[in-house]
Amino acid sequence: MQDSRNDTEQGGRKLTRRGLFLGTGAAALLAAGCALFQRFSSTASVKVESFSTPASGQKKRILIITGSGRENGNSDILAAAFAKGAREAGHSVELFSSARTPMLACMHCEKCWSTGKPCVIEDNFEKLWPLLERTDLLVFCSPLYWYNFSGHIKCVMDRLYPYSKKEKLRDLPIKESMLLMCGESHFLRSFTGPAEAYRQTLGFKGWKDRGRLFVTGVHKLGDMAGHPALATAEDMGRNA
Ligand SMILES: Cc1cc2nc3c(=O)[nH]c(=O)nc-3n(C[C@H](O)[C@H](O)[C@H](O)COP(=O)(O)O)c2cc1C
Repeated sequence: MQDSRNDTEQGGRKLTRRGLFLGTGAAALLAAGCALFQRFSSTASVKVESFSTPASGQKKRILIITGSGRENGNSDILAAAFAKGAREAGHSVELFSSARTPMLACMHCEKCWSTGKPCVIEDNFEKLWPLLERTDLLVFCSPLYWYNFSGHIKCVMDRLYPYSKKEKLRDLPIKESMLLMCGESHFLRSFTGPAEAYRQTLGFKGWKDRGRLFVTGVHKLGDMAGHPALATAEDMGRNA
């Protein structure tokens, strides 16, 4: 009895040691896995779609409309990188925050141009339309909200309605557009909705698509800082 109890205790200690060994091994594997995941998620999560359309060499008037209320948030950082590249290339760049200068969505009142101005609603669109009317290349830079553009950006898009009417007094000089987006999702397919809306909007407006950049896997404030996608955004700006 005595011996067998000792055996069991001995066996128990052996089992415990093996368990400890296995546990340590599993923890080391888990740590290595986490490190690998972090490394990969910071680089493999850069999803880029860009175009072979070469820059024309012309200096352009570029307007970047940002769509996040979070100051210095991920999309703001992306927009700043694009702006840096574009300014370095000699383009003139203006930024307009559609979240911090918010406007209503279109009310479909059909009173466009009735006062000589594109819209009768007296809100921040009054600050935006003069910028739009001196833009060659329009860049939308939005965080992904519910698999779509942010509502702020969508309001801006709605307010382009007066320029799409047959009876418009003026048209926009915009000829080209770009789309920059970021989101928490690790899947490029999460951007399918806004990418398609962008594509069809450009088709409708006759604007040339000059590039798209989707950055997955960024969520917390500052996640975009030092991100490899910034170099891509800067290049896109430089080649605008
Ligand atoms: C209202 C809201 C909706 C969101 N919806 C999505 C979503 O559908 N998919 C996603 O991947 N991330 C979603 N996010 C996360 C943001 O896209 C992500 O945090 C992004 O990096 C924020 O960019 P910002 O710092 O420029 O605001 C959402 C965030 C908010 C506040």
